[in-house]
Amino acid sequence: MYLKNAWYVAAWSNELDQELMTRTILEKPVLLYRKENGDPVAMGNLCPHRFAPLHMGKRIGDTVQCGYHGMVFGESGKCVLNPHHGGVISPAMKVHSYPVIERNSLIWVWTGDEDAADPALIPDFSCYSADGFETIGGVMDVQANYELITDNLLDLTHADFLHEGTLSSDAITISKLETIEAGGTVWANRWCPDGIAPPVWGQLMQSQMGFDLSQKIDHWLYMRWDAPAHLLLDVGISPLGKPREDGVWVYTGHHLTPVSPTRTLYFWSIVRNHGLNDPEVDAFWKGSIEFAFNGQDKPMIEAQQAAIGNTDVNDLRPVAIPADVAGGRARRALARQIANEVKGIKPESGASPLDELLKKSAGSYAPVLPVV
Ligand code: FES
Ligand SMILES: [Fe+2]
Repeated sequence: MYLKNAWYVAAWSNELDQELMTRTILEKPVLLYRKENGDPVAMGNLCPHRFAPLHMGKRIGDTVQCGYHGMVFGESGKCVLNPHHGGVISPAMKVHSYPVIERNSLIWVWTGDEDAADPALIPDFSCYSADGFETIGGVMDVQANYELITDNLLDLTHADFLHEGTLSSDAITISKLETIEAGGTVWANRWCPDGIAPPVWGQLMQSQMGFDLSQKIDHWLYMRWDAPAHLLLDVGISPLGKPREDGVWVYTGHHLTPVSPTRTLYFWSIVRNHGLNDPEVDAFWKGSIEFAFNGQDKPMIEAQQAAIGNTDVNDLRPVAIPADVAGGRARRALARQIANEVKGIKPESGASPLDELLKKSAGSYAPVLPVV
């Protein structure tokens, strides 16, 4: 099931240049490139003549020439030159043109009705360029349904088991889960005060701040979800009772773009307040992502997908535990939005008043949301 009236991430800004590239979004191949002035273009990638992939053609100015029999398409997707039969251009000689926006170092593509493409529906990821923070990002190809990855991110109790020895902390497992839903947004928050540092976090605190690992810490993990699958985790550790600025503070972004029912492009980011302009800290975080996401989460989620085949996980009547609450809410919120779309109801805005509340809380370490 896909939400069509939605913005999906097609690429990181730095992946896109004037070369033609393609990404598959909601089972449709999309052609991506930058115009000579740098603006991004997104259009269908299959030539309407014999369905040759247009990314195998070439750029002519801001237009694209099919590499097979030479039809040329403009950025609006319409054929602007037909080298055959006296150059007659029929209305059918066009490909779909996707609304596209570049924001927060990402290329966002709208897959639904053009009239409904409202840029205000892009969730807030302005932290990617916040003062005092630095962002790195990448993309993974996961052979699994995007909602299985959403489930993984909204239930971080898996850290103590799947990420044993790196992100593990039994404090996460026993912490109280705060879930809250406002507008189209779901929050899944865990506050783990007065504990010991999980291994990866402790290593960072020690190397970046000379922190004594025998000291107690506070650990926070606040995950935000917006449809269809854009998640932002505000996470870190600080010395016991100290504000977040005094600790190792990170946002991790997760943008899940469905390729097919069993394949997802997973755009990730790490936004950090420490080791700015330090390639060693870049390498540390890239290595941690490689180890934890690529080496642990991905194989488990892919194995889960292989085990359930094409069946929806909820049709198998899974056993539920309290940690599943936030993931269940996100799944229901998405299903509601998909059902509304079928009925022609306008998309829900992801802009939540909680964003403001959380911005205000950024200098404090205490949880700000009520327990639901
Ligand atoms: S397939 Fe593109 S012009 Fe023939
Ligand atoms: Fe994980």
